[in-house]
Amino acid sequence: MRIEDFDVYKDLLMEKSGLVLTPDKSYLLDSRLTPVAKKWGFETLDKMSAALRGVADPGLIKDIIEAMTTNETSFFRDTRPFDTFRDVMIPHIIKTRGAQRKVRIWCAAASSGQEPYSLAMVIKEHGGLNGWNIEIVGTDISTDILDTAKEGIYSQFEVQRGMPITMLMKYFEQVDEKWHIKPEIKNMIQYRYFNLLDSMTGLGRFDIVFCRNVLIYFDRETKGKVLGKIKAQLAPDGYLFLGGAETVIGITDEFQAAPDLRGVYLPTTQAAAAPKTA
Ligand SMILES: C[S@@+](CC[C@H](N)C(=O)[O-])C[C@H]1O[C@@H](n2cnc3c(N)ncnc32)[C@H](O)[C@@H]1O
Repeated sequence: MRIEDFDVYKDLLMEKSGLVLTPDKSYLLDSRLTPVAKKWGFETLDKMSAALRGVADPGLIKDIIEAMTTNETSFFRDTRPFDTFRDVMIPHIIKTRGAQRKVRIWCAAASSGQEPYSLAMVIKEHGGLNGWNIEIVGTDISTDILDTAKEGIYSQFEVQRGMPITMLMKYFEQVDEKWHIKPEIKNMIQYRYFNLLDSMTGLGRFDIVFCRNVLIYFDRETKGKVLGKIKAQLAPDGYLFLGGAETVIGITDEFQAAPDLRGVYLPTTQAAAAPKTA
C-alpha cells in the first residue's frame, strides 16, 4: 500500500475514533479492511482510500472503524478488578449511598458485554444492593459488537474463559450449543453507542467507571482528554478502573492510583482522603 493511502486510513481512524495506526500495524488494514472494500464494491484498499478523500459515505466510515476496533474481552477479565469491586466498591457504595439507594456504573468500552454482565453477576451474588436502583450503562463505538452484547448469547469457548462454573449454572441457560444469559442479569444493563471522543456531559454522573483496555489504543493526548472528561462525570468519591496495561501516570493529574488497589484510580480531590482498604 502506498504511504499516502496508509495515511488516509491512519488520519480517518485518529479523527473519528482516536485509534492510533502505526506503520507496523499496516497488515491489520489488509486483513480487516479487505472484506469492507469488497462489501462496498472497491477492488482494492487503495481505491477505497481514494473514495475516502472526497465526501465519504458515513456508512463506509462506520464500517471501517468497526472493522479496525479490537473487541477482545472475557468474563471476569483479570479477576482482581471484580474482586475489588465486590470487596471494596460495593461496601463503599452501601455505606455512602444508603439514603438514596441508587448507584450508576459505566462500562465505557463494553465490547460484547462480558464486562458489564460480570459486574451484574457480582452485584447479584453479593446481595447487599438488593432493592436498590442500579444502573449499569454499557457503551461502545461499535454498534455491531453492542448488538452481540444486547443478545447475551455466548459460545462454550467464551463462557469457559474466566467464568466460574457456579456462575455459569446460575445465570445462564444452555440452548443447543450456546449459553444465553438470563433476563435477571441481562436486564440490569442498558447498552448505547458512545464514542469516547465525544462530549460526555449527556451521560450524567457515575459512581464507578470501568474504562478498561481501550485507552491502550489511543495516543497520550487523547488518553488525557478522555480521562479528563471521565473525571468530570465521576462522583468526587467515585472510582475509575483501567486495564492492566493502562495507567494515568505521566498522562493526567486528574486521577491518582488508589493505594493498594491495582488498576483502580481516584479523582485527585478524593485521592488524599482515600478509604483504607484491606
Ligand atoms: C479490547 S475491548 C475492551 C473490552 C472490555 N472493556 C475489556 O476490558 O475486556 C476495546 C473496546 O473499545 C471499543 N472502542 C475503541 N475505540 C473506542 C472509542 N473511541 N469510543 C468507544 N469505544 C471504543 C472497541 O470497539 C472495543 O469493543
